[in-house]
Amino acid sequence: MLHSNLNVNEKGNLEFANVDCTLLAKEYKTPLYVIDEERIRSKCKAYTSAMRKYFGENSETLYASKALSFKDVYKIVKSEGLSIDVVSGGELYTALSAGVSAEKIYFHGNNKTDDEIEYAIDSKIGFFIADCREELDRIDEIAREKGIVQNILMRLTPGIDTHTYEAVRTGQVDSKFGTAIETGQARELCLYALTLKNVSLKGFHCHVGSQVFDGQTFCDSSDIMLNFIKEIENESGFCASILNLGGGYGVRYIDSDEHLNIEKTISEVASHIKEKCALLNMDMPRILMEPGRSIVADAGLTLYTVGSVKTITGYKSYVSIDGGMGDNPRYALYGSQHSALVANKASEKADFLCTIAGKCCESGDLIAEDIMLQKPERGDILAVLVTGAYNYSMSSNYNRIPRPPVVVLKDGKSRIAVKRETYEDIARNDV
Ligand code: LLP
Repeated sequence: MLHSNLNVNEKGNLEFANVDCTLLAKEYKTPLYVIDEERIRSKCKAYTSAMRKYFGENSETLYASKALSFKDVYKIVKSEGLSIDVVSGGELYTALSAGVSAEKIYFHGNNKTDDEIEYAIDSKIGFFIADCREELDRIDEIAREKGIVQNILMRLTPGIDTHTYEAVRTGQVDSKFGTAIETGQARELCLYALTLKNVSLKGFHCHVGSQVFDGQTFCDSSDIMLNFIKEIENESGFCASILNLGGGYGVRYIDSDEHLNIEKTISEVASHIKEKCALLNMDMPRILMEPGRSIVADAGLTLYTVGSVKTITGYKSYVSIDGGMGDNPRYALYGSQHSALVANKASEKADFLCTIAGKCCESGDLIAEDIMLQKPERGDILAVLVTGAYNYSMSSNYNRIPRPPVVVLKDGKSRIAVKRETYEDIARNDV
């Protein structure tokens, strides 16, 4: 099947991490996010061991927790030794509540509010990744008020246009993120940062996009970043000790997607960086990477119950489910493709052409179009695969639909990691 944690058992039911999905649906009801803990752990290990092997012991893997954020997942990732990338006070709060050490937290984002900066400084986080001049000034001012010197990296845009979908491209010059190298503003900002007393610039960060399969993209962005580091060193004597190359490693959502080999890609990027450093006659900085999607995406699937199956004669068939864009907005937002199958008919032939529709009052609330499924009927369990990343974390209460719970599987057993929202939860803050 698409990933090795998926299987069809002798009853013809879909198994995920060795657990029958129909039993999970019965026990926890649907919609239901299901997470395979072992898969998250093996991905963490793949990154940390490849990073150590090819970039050395002082390299560091950060988990970009925007991909999937709740306490249990921070605990898993923390126990695998990863540091954490957060982009908001909410992610910071959740990570700290899960016991992540503050010094292992890197605070990202293109517009950190004063409150967030203050909260992060009070919490004694390791690094801010400063986005631009105003933000740098505010971090410096707030750090001064608190009487500390705050470590920072600066986010730069290397001017790379990745081959991925529009909404997740971030490395191009006109991106909303970071400060552009090409326009000379990054150089200016870096020289300015070096004059500030309450921030200590340690290095630079870039993230060129998400769902990237081509290792060359990471080599190209490294070249630009290393050239920049060398130029700044020549000009100011400042020697950046850290280079954070961001995340973005692609994941297989459908059969025709490639499979990106994490170790091989890291080894290629590492050889490239070592050669480049030799060419520039510089020591290799400490290399950081911060994958999100590739750590959690194929560790997740979502289970739904099929409601109406409606064929518009001469046109198309809709299979409606009890969730939709509220728990998985990725098709509505980006047209992203996901694989799906009827979990209680997994061994049957998928010969029913249909569109999977959510229950929101919105035509664009679809999960997949023109997909082949086993002939579904009301009451069947539909599994949408590879939903571990950017599903729960992007979920909403549109139409006041409660968010599904998250169940984590380990050693054939399940545990609740996030409870199902109730109607009371939804109206909790209404006055
Ligand atoms: N670092 C930074 C600074 C980022 O902005 C991101 C993702 C990552 C790391 C992690 O990238 P990943 O390894 O997950 O590709 N909601 C979209 C994806 C948005 C990605 C945002 N930034 C989706 O569902 O496809």
